[in-house]
Amino acid sequence: MGDKTAIAIDGPAGAGKSTIAKLIAKRKGYIYVDTGAMYRAMALYFIEQGIGADEQERISEAVPNVDVTITYENREQIVWLNGRNVNSLIRTEEVGKMASSSSANREVRSKLVELQQALARKESVVMDGRDIGTCVLPDADVKVYLTADSHVRAVRRCEELRAKGQECDLDRVEKDIVERDYQDMHRELSPLTQAKDAVLLDSSAMTIEQVVDAIIDLCGRGAQ
Ligand code: DC
Repeated sequence: MGDKTAIAIDGPAGAGKSTIAKLIAKRKGYIYVDTGAMYRAMALYFIEQGIGADEQERISEAVPNVDVTITYENREQIVWLNGRNVNSLIRTEEVGKMASSSSANREVRSKLVELQQALARKESVVMDGRDIGTCVLPDADVKVYLTADSHVRAVRRCEELRAKGQECDLDRVEKDIVERDYQDMHRELSPLTQAKDAVLLDSSAMTIEQVVDAIIDLCGRGAQ
C-alpha cells in the first residue's frame, strides 16, 4: 500500500457501512470513498439512456461514454457523472436496484475499480463497498466485513426514510434488501463475500459508536 493507509469496509446493503466509514475517516483524518455511489452514478446514466437492467450488452457498449469522477468538498464526496454533480440523484431505490444489476458487468467494474485503486494510491482512505477487501484493495491495512440482521437493516433504513419525511413499508424494504444481497452475493464477478483476513462485525445489537470504536481499535493493532 506504500505510505498510505487503507481501511476496507465491505458488507450487505444497509449495514451502516457509509455512516461508520465516514466517522472513521473523520477520526483518522483520511478520505472517505463511497464506491457504491460510483456504481449508482453509472446506473443513473444507464437509466437515463433507457437501458434496461438485464441488457448487459447495451451496458457494456455504453461504458466508454460514461465518465465518473470524484471530488471532495468539506470532506464530502461529490460524484460527477459526465461533468454533472449527481449526489442528490443517486440515493433512490430505482438507482440502487439498477446499480446492483449493472455492477455485475465486467466493463463497469473494471472502469470503477481502476478509479478506486488510483484514489487509494494518492490518499489514506476508508473505502466501503462489496469487493474492497477481496478485490480492490487486497493489501488493505484493516479489513472489516460489516453486517447486521436483515430485519434490523430494514428497520434502520425505514427510520432514515421517515426522518426525511418519506413513507416506508417495512416488509417491502426488507424484501428489497434480501433480494439485493442475494444478487450482490451470487454474481459471477467479485461477489460480496467476506475476505479471509477480514474481521466480521455484526452490528445488529451494537450502537454506531461501538462499531466505530471496534474498528478504530483494529487500526491501533495495525491489522486483523
Ligand atoms: O452500497 P450501495 O447500496 O450504494 O451500492 C449500490 C450497488 O452497487 C450494490 O447493490 C452493489 C454495487 N456495488 C458493487 O458491486 N461493488 C461495490 N464496491 C459497491 C457497490
